[in-house]
Amino acid sequence: MKDAISFILNNETVALNDFGPTDTLLDYLRLQKRLTGTKEGCAEGDCGACTVLVGRLVDGSLRYETVNACIRFMGSLHGTHIVTIEHLAGKAGALHPVQQAMVDYHGSQCGFCTPGFVMSLYGLWLSSSKPSRADIEKALQGNLCRCTGYEPIIKAAESVTAAKPSALFDPIERDRSSIMSRLWAISLNETITVSKDANGETCRSIIPSSLSDFAAAYAAEPKATIVAGSTDVGLWVTKQMRALNPVIFINHLSELQSISVGDGGITMGAGVTYAQAFEVVATNIPAFARLIDRIGGQQVRNMGTIGGNIANGSPIGDTPPALIALGATLTLRSASDSRTILLEKYFVDYGKQDRFSGEFVEKIFVPIPAADTHFAVYKISKRRDEDISALCAAYHLKLDEAGHVEDIRIAFGGMAATPKRATKLEEALTGQPWNKDTIDVVRDTLNEDFQPLSDWRATAEYRQLTAKNLLTRFLLETSGEAQELQRFALAEA
Ligand code: FES
Ligand code: FES
Repeated sequence: MKDAISFILNNETVALNDFGPTDTLLDYLRLQKRLTGTKEGCAEGDCGACTVLVGRLVDGSLRYETVNACIRFMGSLHGTHIVTIEHLAGKAGALHPVQQAMVDYHGSQCGFCTPGFVMSLYGLWLSSSKPSRADIEKALQGNLCRCTGYEPIIKAAESVTAAKPSALFDPIERDRSSIMSRLWAISLNETITVSKDANGETCRSIIPSSLSDFAAAYAAEPKATIVAGSTDVGLWVTKQMRALNPVIFINHLSELQSISVGDGGITMGAGVTYAQAFEVVATNIPAFARLIDRIGGQQVRNMGTIGGNIANGSPIGDTPPALIALGATLTLRSASDSRTILLEKYFVDYGKQDRFSGEFVEKIFVPIPAADTHFAVYKISKRRDEDISALCAAYHLKLDEAGHVEDIRIAFGGMAATPKRATKLEEALTGQPWNKDTIDVVRDTLNEDFQPLSDWRATAEYRQLTAKNLLTRFLLETSGEAQELQRFALAEA
């Protein structure tokens, strides 16, 4: 067993055995390495000031993603290439073309957000030769600027990506093959445990080398915190100052990152990130992909996993309302066993899931809706991007030939202590004609399914009324009452 992680930081290969399980990449960069170009704004994955690139070997190629250093733990970085804004400087401090475009188009005023924007644009520049305006906006979803405004920044992005300069200017393109060799040389072949003494105890970061090592480590340490993307657990640390010990890191396990289509559905390993899932989901279940597109910013979607989202059991849920309406199943595994359950059975109560000691989420199976069904999911939040839902509603409907409800599954997040089906409403709708008269009669049945709470996101009354109105919206979108639908679209705009 090893006791140090290895990674490449810009050009330097680093071996590190002196960090705690909740030490963040941002603190390491700024406090230990004095790479202070990477900024700290929100410390919760919202503002993008801390954006860096993390590269890793995937199926024989080197892939870079933007991440939020403020909520990325050091234990998740073995075998990666970390690239900060300082690495972009050319000879004698010459600006990288992405930086030069920001200057040319006046994309910076106070400059605090600028390194983060540059790194997001640099990630886009590396991965896409001709990004559309929508691609640019998506790449910048996770970056906030309070003073310049976005138009100059988008113009800078359009200019630099329209005429992609020679790779000779770029440190990653220039050194790609040597970086790959260096990463191969440090790839994980045995479990790493890094220990650090703090406050009278020994804090451990465990980085298993395989799925079976992970299962064994978790069986031995069932109270350990499992960290995949850390987009939720990161905030336990930066906002709640929670101490976690030990932590098992699983974001690197390729056995948890497979994604395949077959048997009428999509099977995703628990370590598949939102970004990795997006393309397959967009092809097969577009409405679900539109929801994924509204989770966090690109940096969060590059880190956060659907398995982690489920395992944490948040009442809001993000993906679980959609997954429950689709009839998704969950495979839970331990060192000695494996079982598959309906996802809706997994959420027992607030903070309580159907998971035995030593069990973890291994994979998710998501049925693809049949062509003769309707599926929709609606996220209601104060902002379109980078916001948690006040409520989330998902509907999956099958009508019979007479236009009556043959089968319907309705699930909500934000309406109860867990993501949950509206079983009373489903019963009331089944067998009824799918029209406005039916909805008007049954919509108050939701009062029997849910008694939501008021919090800072929304009042109970708002949630209940909105949930009912979303049922009407789903009817309008599925019953072809075009005029009324138009009215809704205008009201939204
Ligand atoms: Fe705001 Fe990291 S400091 S996203
Ligand atoms: Fe000031 Fe963006 S330039 S916050």
